[in-house]
Order: sequence, then C-alpha cells, then structure tokens
Amino acid sequence: MNNIEKVLIDEAALNNKVLELAEIINCDYKDKRLIMIGILKGSIAFMADLLRHITIDDVEIDFLKVSSYGSSTKSSGVVRIVQDLEIDIAGAHVLIVEDILDTGRTLSYIKQFLESRKPASIKICTILNKPSRREIEIEADYVGFDIPDEFVVGYGLDFDQKYRNLPYVGVLKTGGK
Ligand code: IMP
Ligand code: MG
Repeated sequence: MNNIEKVLIDEAALNNKVLELAEIINCDYKDKRLIMIGILKGSIAFMADLLRHITIDDVEIDFLKVSSYGSSTKSSGVVRIVQDLEIDIAGAHVLIVEDILDTGRTLSYIKQFLESRKPASIKICTILNKPSRREIEIEADYVGFDIPDEFVVGYGLDFDQKYRNLPYVGVLKTGGK
C-alpha cells in the first residue's frame, strides 16, 4: 500500500494478541451472561477476530454506531448515537469492544450511556491505546497495544473512511492524508 509510511503492528502480532486477550476474557466471564458490544465502524475487524476465540456459552453480540463531531483526525468528544443496541443489557455483563482509546471522550460518553441501562458490569476492551493523548480519565480493562501519538489506519481504523481493510495497523504518509 503506497500511502503507508510504516507498519506499526503486523498481522501476526495482531493475531497473537487477540488470542491472548480472548483467553483472559474467557476466564473472566466464565459462567456469566456476556454481551460484547462493538462500536461501529472501527471495531469490526477486532470484533470479528476476538469473537472467534470466545468460548463462553452465554455470549451475545450487538453493535452501537456512534459518530463524533469534529475533524477527521481529532475527536471533538461530542458523540451522537447513530444506531442504538437491539439487545436489552439490563442485568448482563457488558464488554465494549473498541478500535482505539485516544482522548477517551468517545468511550467515556458511551460508558455513561450504557451504564444508565443498568447492566451487571461494564468493561472496555480496546485493541489500541494512545495513553499520551488522554484528556478524560478513563482506562480500558483489556488493552492490545499501547502506541505512540501517531495517526494510524488499518484493522478497522480509517482515515476519511478508507484503509479499514488493511490487515495490519500502519502509519499514513503525511501526503497520504
Ligand atoms: P477519542 O474520543 O479521542 O478517544 O477517539 C476515539 C475515536 O477516534 C476512535 O474510535 C477512532 O474512531 C478515532 N481515532 C482516534 N485515533 C485514531 C487514529 O489514530 N486513527 C484512526 N482513528 C482514530
Ligand atoms: Mg471509531
């Protein structure tokens, strides 16, 4: 791919990490009713890979589509729910599945939104984390990789809706933006 300056996390590293996270989640939610909630669209690759390694019997999935107002590379923190859940999460254990935790604004809004529906618990699982960018105090319970403050694409993450199809996480060339 011409517009990629460098590959930050290759396909094999992603696969290994997803398996590692799934094993921990399988232990933590054994014998519980788990609802995995993917945040659209960025989480689709991670959600699909993670789900295939989940061995809990009582697992359901659902999706929440949100959009954040603001420029394409910076989250404004003003989040709008574009598509709500189908499943009633009251009393269930919720695991939010996200592509990246950046400033924390999006996930903090989503967590509060879901908390109002009285699930038994809510945890966050993100494949990528940019700790240096945090503006709101929020941490994920399961983190794939801590990455530096660089704009990344691939494995579900986009720039201007493109590059979600790349099987790795890469940094865009500045000209590619
Ligand atoms: P936050 O509200 O700043 O934590 O932003 C979270 C959302 O911003 C993510 O769900 C992504 O959609 C987007 N985002 C943040 N950093 C990146 C990046 O490096 N590449 C692509 N999307 C990003
Ligand atoms: Mg996103």
